Amino acid sequence: MLHEHADDISRRAGCRIELATVAVRDLDRPRDVPIPRDRFVDDPFAAVCDPSVDVVVEVMGGIEPARSLVLEALSSGKPVVTANKELLASHGEALMDAAANGRAALLFEAAVGGGIPLIRPLREHLAGDRIARFMGIVNGTTNFILTRMTEQGISRDQALAEAQSMGYAEADPTADVEGFDAAAKAAILASIAFDVPVLASDVYRQGISTVSADDIASARRLGYVVKLLAIAESLGDSISVRVHPAMIPHDHPLASVRESYNAVFIEGERVGPLMLYGQGAGGDPTATSVVGDVIDLARSRAGRGPEPGAPTTRTRAGTGAPRIRPIDDLASQYYLLLDAADRPGVLAAVATVFAAHEVSIKSVWQEGRGEEAQIVLITHQALERDLAACARDLAALDTVRSVRSVIRVVAAEP
Ligand SMILES: NC(=O)c1ccc[n+]([C@@H]2O[C@H](COP(=O)([O-])OP(=O)(O)OC[C@H]3O[C@@H](n4cnc5c(N)ncnc54)[C@H](OP(=O)(O)O)[C@@H]3O)[C@@H](O)[C@H]2O)c1
Repeated sequence: MLHEHADDISRRAGCRIELATVAVRDLDRPRDVPIPRDRFVDDPFAAVCDPSVDVVVEVMGGIEPARSLVLEALSSGKPVVTANKELLASHGEALMDAAANGRAALLFEAAVGGGIPLIRPLREHLAGDRIARFMGIVNGTTNFILTRMTEQGISRDQALAEAQSMGYAEADPTADVEGFDAAAKAAILASIAFDVPVLASDVYRQGISTVSADDIASARRLGYVVKLLAIAESLGDSISVRVHPAMIPHDHPLASVRESYNAVFIEGERVGPLMLYGQGAGGDPTATSVVGDVIDLARSRAGRGPEPGAPTTRTRAGTGAPRIRPIDDLASQYYLLLDAADRPGVLAAVATVFAAHEVSIKSVWQEGRGEEAQIVLITHQALERDLAACARDLAALDTVRSVRSVIRVVAAEP
């Protein structure tokens, strides 16, 4: 992009942007890019410390040596552009501190949502508003799998195999399927949206490995679509940040986000609902975000714009920063799928357990007969801890063989 769009970029940036050095692991690997071979080096520290380098772009991934390299650059006053969600979600506060102390910008538009502008809209455009909630589909692999399960009725394993054959899923899909990738992105977005440091380890996380074809079929019958959502919500004196599968109404804008596409649906107090949608990964979309950040820095250096990316989380850190409310204290509606015997009195026994935990049932269906019967329930809003106790007691009933699924149902309003 820097080569092919060079004239447009220099006009917009107010200066030419030159790729000074590219640090790689393997100097001998053939590379299909118009960059002279003598610009490639295999010592990233030398590249970062080179006094002729004005901006460091970190797209190597992983924690080390990326963390040390970014800290080195920031502490010597060099701005950094990074796409590294893992690093930001585990060491974000230390990096923000280094950026503030070194008076150097740290930009990371590419770290969440690949080519979708998310960080800058939250940090700049929406800076005057208060965010009530955001809900995002921020992992393309799991969205692809859930889309295939929904539209073709295939199993999760079949859909995963298809995702792997199409290059959407890694050979080891754990980071995607178990929600680690989405949790890192949720942490980064929540820290920007709510001005509070959030680490990936603060995020409640549940992946899609418990979502079955039966759940998807039930969701469809009930007018819902199952998505893996990254949700963060303002709760007054606290916030919630979580990643889990959720049923959303089929007419919600997020329900139409298919295949490997990503989207984040933001609800602001003044702006109302808005959704940012696009390709959340891939070389070209992600490069667009990286190059956009570099241009922002160049513009500022050329005197054409303000210093970008002032760290915002520091403003609320310490006293007054909202705490993160544990999942047990959150309320939601729930879908439950029970394997139960079709005998007189089963529904009464199930209803008694719900009543004992003050979880109110919104609707209930029974399917199948005899020992193969399934009971599907949707609850009204209930506290997570009450629902968990309820599910434990249901599983202990003689007439309930298993509580096969519990999936949260997202309400249209926060
Ligand atoms: N790919 C995406 O769609 C996407 C989207 C958003 C964010 N990201 C983030 O972008 C980062 C990179 O991902 P990627 O998919 O582009 O990875 P990748 O294809 O493996 O590229 C990593 C690059 O960094 C170089 N590198 C790695 N470790 C190095 C070291 N110790 N010293 C010198 N060079 C080193 C590699 O050199 P060699 O070429 O010699 O191996 C390679 O060129 C990750 O943080 C990822 O989370 C990626």
